[in-house]
Amino acid sequence: MTKLAPSILSADFARIAEQIAAVDAAGADYLHIDVMDGRFVPNLTWGPKVVADLRKLSPKPFDCHLMIVEPEKFVDAFREAGADIITFHLEATVHAQRLLAHIKSLGAKAGISINPQTPVELLKDVIDDADLVLVMSVNPGFGGQSFIPRALDKVREARALIDAAYADCELEVDGGIGERNLRQVVAAGADVVVMGSAIFGTPDPAAAIAAIRSMLA
Ligand code: DX5
Ligand code: ZN
Repeated sequence: MTKLAPSILSADFARIAEQIAAVDAAGADYLHIDVMDGRFVPNLTWGPKVVADLRKLSPKPFDCHLMIVEPEKFVDAFREAGADIITFHLEATVHAQRLLAHIKSLGAKAGISINPQTPVELLKDVIDDADLVLVMSVNPGFGGQSFIPRALDKVREARALIDAAYADCELEVDGGIGERNLRQVVAAGADVVVMGSAIFGTPDPAAAIAAIRSMLA
């Protein structure tokens, strides 16, 4: 079954406990937590302290998406804060294979992400080291952007790469996903779909999850 990963980037942080409880109860599989540094992406979010505090609110796997330069400097801190999956960007580091292995050595799942302009084939030589591949379907940095259509082909390419390698690796897609294109993204091969505004941008995030689940049934 396709996994749903609500992105709290679009949540109301004045009511974060209530919002997280709602998506937990509605059957979210992961909680997607976007970390931005104002350098790799033109926006800022939060660091390990906030992740550690959120950890008290939910037992779900924390899916931390690091949109930061030199991610190797921070993976230990995010693991300590309670991240279960730590995904960094291929474009943000020189030694991707080393970092994947290091994240696994911390006991977390290791994910690698590519921006819209980065070819899937650049993942070929690290696919056996990754627990998760995250294909960005927008330029990272903000919620509520439009899905870039070419990303669908990239999801198919990533699916083929993972399957050809018999890799034990989930395929996640992030950005601009909603009721309009959800089925296409899943049909292209996504195992995990991230949704921010389509869930937390609605008055009732739990109802949004229920509607999304029924679309995938
Ligand atoms: C964007 C983030 C996404 C974001 C998705 O840079 O990585 O996780 O929250 O938001 P939507 O679903 O609104 O495009
Ligand atoms: Zn994300």
